[in-house]
Amino acid sequence: MSLPVPTRVLVTGTAGFIGFHLARRLIDAGHVVCGIDGMTAYYDVGLKRRRHGLLRASNRFSAHEIMLEDEAATQAVFRDFRPEIVVHLAAQAGVRYSLENPRAYLDANLVGTFNLMEAVREAAPRHFLMASTSSVYGGNLDQPFRETARTAHPLTLYAATKGAAELMTHAYAHLHGLPTTMFRFFTVYGPWGRPDMALFKFVRAMLAGEPIEVYAGGAMQRDFTYIDDLVDGIVGLMAQAPRLGEPVAPEIDSLSPVAPHRIVNIGGGSPVGLDDFIATIEEALGIPAKKLMLPLQPGDVPSTVADTRLLVALTGARPATPVSEGVGAFVRWYRDYAGR
Ligand SMILES: NC(=O)c1ccc[n+]([C@@H]2O[C@H](COP(=O)([O-])OP(=O)(O)OC[C@H]3O[C@@H](n4cnc5c(N)ncnc54)[C@H](O)[C@@H]3O)[C@@H](O)[C@H]2O)c1
Repeated sequence: MSLPVPTRVLVTGTAGFIGFHLARRLIDAGHVVCGIDGMTAYYDVGLKRRRHGLLRASNRFSAHEIMLEDEAATQAVFRDFRPEIVVHLAAQAGVRYSLENPRAYLDANLVGTFNLMEAVREAAPRHFLMASTSSVYGGNLDQPFRETARTAHPLTLYAATKGAAELMTHAYAHLHGLPTTMFRFFTVYGPWGRPDMALFKFVRAMLAGEPIEVYAGGAMQRDFTYIDDLVDGIVGLMAQAPRLGEPVAPEIDSLSPVAPHRIVNIGGGSPVGLDDFIATIEEALGIPAKKLMLPLQPGDVPSTVADTRLLVALTGARPATPVSEGVGAFVRWYRDYAGR
């Protein structure tokens, strides 16, 4: 199933890594996209402006530089645009930053999300989708991580605010009959990526001849998800609004028994060790890494692995780009972007 063209889609976080890629894909497919992004200073605003600049080249894209904490401004954008689908990606992201700046997470991820939900309630789109994170699995030891597992042990405030948003959206889906899908993303990487994430930091440091910080002696693994695969998953799920009482695969579906609300992992289910990930970067750059070995950081988990069965049942596919290919694409982009 695919979306009728054109569909009016409101995306928050369009100057961010994932929102930019999603908006670009939707515009290219002929949809009309309205972006909201507050251009927060969490990382280089210049990179965010470059992403928005590329999107603005299309007359099917319009953007509003507002913070979701501004309730009136958020409502005004919704009233003006009248979205058929809303994808909420804006957030204060990052696990480590939440240790030093917890309030930023409450403001953006709870207050901002609440204001957005109120605007969504009034606009009544046919589907509301929002980014959660694999971090909500926190201290869960059972892997792969299943959507139906309990997620009551977050290790950071970032994870706690995303878990809270899963509950808040459930209540709204129940009360207002709002079809809602929550994605749990697993370590997304690729061109135009985030400067605070490992791949960007490693490539920048290695090209500058500086050491890279390797946590847990490299004995960590992540279910790395290439950005194009992630966008495939999001777009596939956009066309699959959950319906109360209609699970797609009853034994694995996370569909709520009392609301049109579903949680779906978007990850490939094939974790890669940090050591192998670094070796792939070394190969792509042709430079050996100088490694500064550090312990596992507070709030970090040693391993993430997605159960992909629900994603496959809903969309027919799962992320499968090999890291060698994805890292290569990132390195080509970075060299061009940074002029190195
Ligand atoms: N990148 C990953 O690996 C990953 C993994 C799990 C979950 N996620 C989630 O996916 C979503 C997108 O992540 P990303 O990697 O693109 O992050 P990002 O930081 O690149 O993008 C988020 C964007 O939201 C904007 N923003 C933040 N707070 C805002 C607010 N209060 N009002 C308006 N705009 C605001 C920022 O300016 C930024 O451009 C986030 O919700 C994040 O928590 C990402």
